[in-house]
Amino acid sequence: LFPDRVKLVEVGPRDGLQNEPGRVETATKIEFIQRLAETGLPVIEATSFVSPRWVPQLADAEAVYAGVQRQPGVRYPVLVPNQAGLERALAAGVADIAVFTGVTETFCQKNIHCSVAESLDRYQPVIAKAREKRLGVRAYLSCVLGCPYEGPVAARQVARLARWFADLGVDEISLGDTIGIGTPLQAQQLLAAVAEEIPLARLAVHFHDTYGQALANIFACLELGVSVIDSAVAGLGGCPYAKGATGNVATEDVVYMLEGMGIETGVDLKKLIEVGNYICQTLTRENQSRVGRARISR
Ligand code: HMG
Ligand code: MG
Repeated sequence: LFPDRVKLVEVGPRDGLQNEPGRVETATKIEFIQRLAETGLPVIEATSFVSPRWVPQLADAEAVYAGVQRQPGVRYPVLVPNQAGLERALAAGVADIAVFTGVTETFCQKNIHCSVAESLDRYQPVIAKAREKRLGVRAYLSCVLGCPYEGPVAARQVARLARWFADLGVDEISLGDTIGIGTPLQAQQLLAAVAEEIPLARLAVHFHDTYGQALANIFACLELGVSVIDSAVAGLGGCPYAKGATGNVATEDVVYMLEGMGIETGVDLKKLIEVGNYICQTLTRENQSRVGRARISR
């Protein structure tokens, strides 16, 4: 039923910081990523090579990527929205990229200024070139359980898009509940529908926690056998094009739950809690992780 081991994809430095209102120093981002790597996390999404006009928070992507002392065995993917982003990522020497599109037209327009179909046309050569250069490629689908502009979303539309990316040879597809609106049985139904098209081993789940359902949704997806989970330490995160949506599920909370279920992650929870507290103190932000805030000894 449940997987023995889960791969955690830490998105704090990217999803977490892309929406941060205040300025975050490049040195802080570098330190944050390096500390995350010391916890045993296998994948740390480091930054985005998107337009600095639209996401000024990550305008220092080159400096961040170059500044990180990368650890063997840890992967540091970056977000890429188009050919220009891929060129920047290649010049920086990245090994893994992530492309992203929306399941609904309105979200896609707001996020990357094109229709869903146009985004696929745009990504086709990006993915082809990335694969030719032997980069790892992940694709995100946003608003899989609901859209802030269009409301409910059909699971078959999500499955169709996932299939399109899988057919291009994308390694992993992450299903994003961008606005954190889904509930556990919906999450299971969606995952089951997508898994009819693509092997479950290639699927990841990406829950934001706006309505407090993220951990329950993850549990529901684990029950179906999903083994890749996205999260952000301290529950950082949010999308500039999904106003009112809160952060990602907190990595500490996911690790705590998985440990309790006897599922391995390779992550040292104590160290992870320290990193969550470090970044919250540095950003003068409240820690959104319940585990990070818990003061009762275990
Ligand atoms: P555009 O303005 O329509 O693009 O933006 P354009 O091609 O017309 O270019 C406009 C200007 O941007 C030009 O410069 C380009 O050179 C430049 P100018 O001539 O005005 O000086 N430009 C770039 N510069 C640097 N890097 C680039 C790049 N591309 C163009 N890659 C574009 C279209 C896609 C670029 C823009 O809309 C964009 O960057 N969007 C990114 C939005 C974003 O990062 N959203 C958040 C991430 S998605 C998310 O959070 C969801 C996720 O977490 C999963 C989930 O929760 O569901 C992944
Ligand atoms: Mg997200």
